[in-house]
Amino acid sequence: QATSIPADRVPDMGKRQLLNLLLLGAVSLPTAGMLIPYASFFVPAGSGAAGGGIIAKDALGNDVIEAAWLKTHGPGDRTLTQGLKGDPTYLVVENDRTLATYGINAVCTHLGCVVPWNTAEKKFICPCHGSQYNNQGKVVRKPCSLVSLHSAVSLCLNCHCLL
Ligand code: FES
Repeated sequence: QATSIPADRVPDMGKRQLLNLLLLGAVSLPTAGMLIPYASFFVPAGSGAAGGGIIAKDALGNDVIEAAWLKTHGPGDRTLTQGLKGDPTYLVVENDRTLATYGINAVCTHLGCVVPWNTAEKKFICPCHGSQYNNQGKVVRKPCSLVSLHSAVSLCLNCHCLL
């Protein structure tokens, strides 16, 4: 049976966005010092521009330049940048030391937390409610098993499955 959560315990959207920003800062700032300013990368084809993409920005807001990026990011690297609409987006370095032709939007499809890459597990694991995504960003585990219950939001905020 589902348990309702008192309204005063449900974080509002402003708090969630603040937490997302804090997480993005915590992930981005330590790596920012290692980045060469003015790295550049075109993500992904077909996103609207005549050249087939937009320029990703690094954590400092500088354009990402592919050649410079690949000097400091090795195979398997997934680093947050600013992608489409400024969304936190991972650039992926393939095993052949080229940039993937896609970026992975880091915003969790569940309730919008920024999802960090877990190098040991080789997947993205959402710290908010446990959703997991594979190395290409495909969902491999949804939060708890909320499907048949009344309010995914209430259950999720409580998050240790109420089944
Ligand atoms: Fe990511 Fe809920 S916001 S699992």
